[in-house]
Amino acid sequence: MEPPEMINAGELVLKRWELEWAPEALAAVKESLPELREFLPWATEAYNLDDAVDFITRSREGWADGEEFNYAIFTSVGELAGSIGLMTRRGPGVLEIGYWTRTPYAGRGYMTAAVNALTRVAFTLPGIARVAILHDELNKASAAVAAKAGFTEVGREIREPQAPGESATTIVRERQH
Ligand SMILES: CC(C)(COP(=O)(O)OP(=O)(O)OC[C@H]1O[C@@H](n2cnc3c(N)ncnc32)[C@H](O)[C@@H]1OP(=O)(O)O)[C@@H](O)C(=O)NCCC(=O)NCCS
Repeated sequence: MEPPEMINAGELVLKRWELEWAPEALAAVKESLPELREFLPWATEAYNLDDAVDFITRSREGWADGEEFNYAIFTSVGELAGSIGLMTRRGPGVLEIGYWTRTPYAGRGYMTAAVNALTRVAFTLPGIARVAILHDELNKASAAVAAKAGFTEVGREIREPQAPGESATTIVRERQH
């Protein structure tokens, strides 16, 4: 099971993360920290180039192992606008999507377009009948993206908050093939 390394999503293109983009990934995360740190535990003031390199290295290993498929999101003029990925961690038959948008590119419908494109690709993979998005119940922007992309709530999970903006409730949404 392996999705394509490049996916077109309207005016965006999703490309498998490359190590040479680590400095740009660092810049994107740094300038987006006020938004990212609320819901992404790894997004802290301490985030540095080693972390960006580590993320891309793990992404490429995860891709090779068939466990996760992470893409950088670029605009049509090659600006890095965020990241999105498919993860197998919820078990067979389902892929989970995770994402973040670089703040200057937020609110343009980019992540909704990227989620729609990646979901379409996920359903072409063998045995994939469901795609999931998990978000904290306080994460209204992520809820809006998932809802606009057609993901409906199928359950809730209770866990310790992992990031400053989180409650203890994770909403599980899915889209069926
Ligand atoms: C969630 C996130 C990826 C959305 O990215 P984006 O590129 O702005 O998404 P889109 O432009 O496609 O859509 C954003 C939607 O959220 C809505 N939205 C944004 N902030 C909101 C808020 N505080 N309350 C309610 N809705 C909000 C927007 O209005 C828009 O919906 P609309 O088109 O119906 O108006 C971005 O906010 C982000 O990176 N957040 C931090 C990281 C994160 O939470 N990742 C997901 C973890 S589950």
